[in-house]
Amino acid sequence: MGHLMILATCSLNQWALDFEGNLERILESIRVAKQRGATLRVGPELEITGYGCFDHFLEGDTYLHSWEMLGKILEFEEAKDMLLDIGMPVSHKNVKYNCRVIIHNCKILLIRPKMFLANDGNYREMRYFTAWSPARYVEDYYLPRIIRNITGQTVVPIGDAVVSTIDTCIGVELCEELFTPNSPHISMGLDGVEIITNSSGSHHELRKLYRRIDLIKEATLKSGGVYLYSNQQGCDGDRLYYDGCALIAINGQIIAQGSQFSLKDVEVITATIDIEDVRSHRGMSSRGIQAVNANSYHPCWLWDYLRRSKTSGYFLPLSGGVDSCATAVIVHSMCRLVVEAASNGDTQVIMDMRKIIGEKEDSDYIPTDPKEFANRIFHTCYMGTVNSSKETRERAKKLANNIGCYHIDMNMDSIVSSVCTVFNLVTNKAPRFRIDGGTDAENLALQNVQARLRMVLSYLFAQLLPWVRNKTGSLLVLGSSNVDECADINPIGAISKNDLRKFIDYAKNEFGIPILDEFLKATPTAELEPFTHEYIQSDENRFHLMNHVSYNPVPVKLISENQQLQADMGMTYDELSIFGKLRKIERCGPFSMFSKLVHEWGRELRPEEIASKVKRFFYYYSINRHKMTTLTPSYHAEAYSPDDNRFDLRPFLYNTTWSWQFKKIDALSHNMEK
Ligand SMILES: *[C@@H]1O[C@H](CO)[C@@H](O)[C@H](O)[C@H]1NC(C)=O
Ligand SMILES: *[C@@H]1O[C@H](CO)[C@@H](O)[C@H](O)[C@H]1NC(C)=O
Ligand SMILES: *[C@@H]1O[C@H](CO)[C@@H](O)[C@H](O)[C@H]1NC(C)=O
Ligand SMILES: *[C@@H]1O[C@H](CO)[C@@H](O)[C@H](O)[C@H]1NC(C)=O
Ligand SMILES: *[C@@H]1O[C@H](CO)[C@@H](O)[C@H](O)[C@H]1NC(C)=O
Repeated sequence: MGHLMILATCSLNQWALDFEGNLERILESIRVAKQRGATLRVGPELEITGYGCFDHFLEGDTYLHSWEMLGKILEFEEAKDMLLDIGMPVSHKNVKYNCRVIIHNCKILLIRPKMFLANDGNYREMRYFTAWSPARYVEDYYLPRIIRNITGQTVVPIGDAVVSTIDTCIGVELCEELFTPNSPHISMGLDGVEIITNSSGSHHELRKLYRRIDLIKEATLKSGGVYLYSNQQGCDGDRLYYDGCALIAINGQIIAQGSQFSLKDVEVITATIDIEDVRSHRGMSSRGIQAVNANSYHPCWLWDYLRRSKTSGYFLPLSGGVDSCATAVIVHSMCRLVVEAASNGDTQVIMDMRKIIGEKEDSDYIPTDPKEFANRIFHTCYMGTVNSSKETRERAKKLANNIGCYHIDMNMDSIVSSVCTVFNLVTNKAPRFRIDGGTDAENLALQNVQARLRMVLSYLFAQLLPWVRNKTGSLLVLGSSNVDECADINPIGAISKNDLRKFIDYAKNEFGIPILDEFLKATPTAELEPFTHEYIQSDENRFHLMNHVSYNPVPVKLISENQQLQADMGMTYDELSIFGKLRKIERCGPFSMFSKLVHEWGRELRPEEIASKVKRFFYYYSINRHKMTTLTPSYHAEAYSPDDNRFDLRPFLYNTTWSWQFKKIDALSHNMEK
């Protein structure tokens, strides 16, 4: 006879410091687990506080409120007879730990602190928490009075231990521990632990899911047993998108898996397992392994951001170029997601959607057409001058037509000339474009004035368009690199140009928007300079390198320093993307980057040519680094984002000669040439 158990794990859309909302979602997940007959429910890492509290984890209040919420969970009627594994921070002897609290029938069985903290890339757990050690060490934890009153306990164990029940033995593995070679599950498996819970605050990054799934399969294959994985879902108020994807695995097989990208706030997955032979019996909601769908995460992030920010929609300047086009398509695809979720009766999405568009809660509006819905929340604007080309203007208009957004086509010549008039009045000088005989400085200033005025106009329109349309609220300004210097958020800030083009190509077929082809085929141009028959300003001339050093938001002032050099840069986007990855992910300085590339590119290029590319890359990198300090927040999806303050901690004032480093490159290159 087998011994059947129903186990539940979940993805929750938690929000840093929203204690009441977080509690409500935790209770809902317990309710659902209970309905399905589960006897064990596992939740995401730090689910009570939200994972992304950052320095709020240093505040005593955060710990106090966590206990208060745990108290409510302990008292929750429907939590009876279920083992709950809850994530929260706990301070013990004035040291802060990232913990799992295991509770059962209004008693705390164990507080299990995390033993391996995630501390690279986007993660700073060591800034807030201390790792528990040594292994298998347990101490007494004195409960706060509010909890003593609820559970009647004074002291509970805190430390590295497992929980035995009548049925089975349960061990806890917190997220980063999986990624470390000496994961606790290995020794736990030998200890009779049959169920391992793994709770996580793991953000989405392209291609990361495969690795996670491999690890889980491997872990359960090696030691046998059941693995329950739970994750945070949603943006949690920051640049990351936590990608849910709760799952249950047995003996190396995934038997139930939640969605990776979902608009649902609470997603519970359950599976019935046979603990006797630790074999899968059936998966209640097995959907198979989802491919890493490269096109769902940005829309999900945008939706989560929009509803959390309580604004009325998005405003995007459309230039007729690829970048703002890609951004528009992402918003379009968000509209499709929302329409789909709403027509499936997702009440949370319907409620959020009605709030955003300013409908009453009792309204019966349900969007059925992404274009119609886009018209309510998505606003685009072409801000041209007499010198803008008909092509870009038309492309922008057609795109807007195709996706249904509320589009404005305007000229800003009068504003540009007013600004120039003020300048002229004060200085008695009139700057001219280069083609009219102006200097580089004049030419640059005239371009920048347009770019910067677009920003001012964007914010004006974003604030007042809802009013113009007899609605309330204001819009968030979306950035997309070339068009403007500043925005509220920049959805494509961390995506390379090549991936953007691939995305547009995908969307062309998937969403049936053939006009996108025109964007892919068009010569990229910022059109900040007047064009003539001989000269069209192209991004390849102008933004070429910058675009890649900064991966998109390209402050226009950058053009200045290097105009001549840029003309003969001779680097492709692919190469620049390789430089970016080597610098950030592989942690290469100039010398080791050169040494590596000589091996990889040695067949096509001479060492001297490679040396000169590497030196240029670092030169441009160092003169532009300061721009990264004020990047518009963007969704973080790649391991090589240049986001200065959070992710890529480097100085921004460099001596740009890199004199010693370049000498070393030259010496090596010289040797090789010989
Ligand atoms: C908790 O305190 C309240 C009053 O403060 C009391 O009525 C209740 O019995 C206490 N509960 C426990 C379990 O001690
Ligand atoms: C445990 O959680 C972490 C956090 O996301 C995850 O990266 C890791 O893959 C998980 N390990 C297993 C075996 O589930
Ligand atoms: C348009 O081009 C003309 C001709 O070069 C130039 O004089 C004028 O300043 C330009 N206007 C704007 C707004 O760029
Ligand atoms: C806004 O409301 C006014 C007065 O009620 C009306 O005249 C106008 O047509 C409305 N505008 C729009 C865009 O609905
Ligand atoms: C940068 O370093 C070089 C070599 O040490 C030096 O000659 C140069 O003056 C430095 N530049 C600045 C701006 O300090």
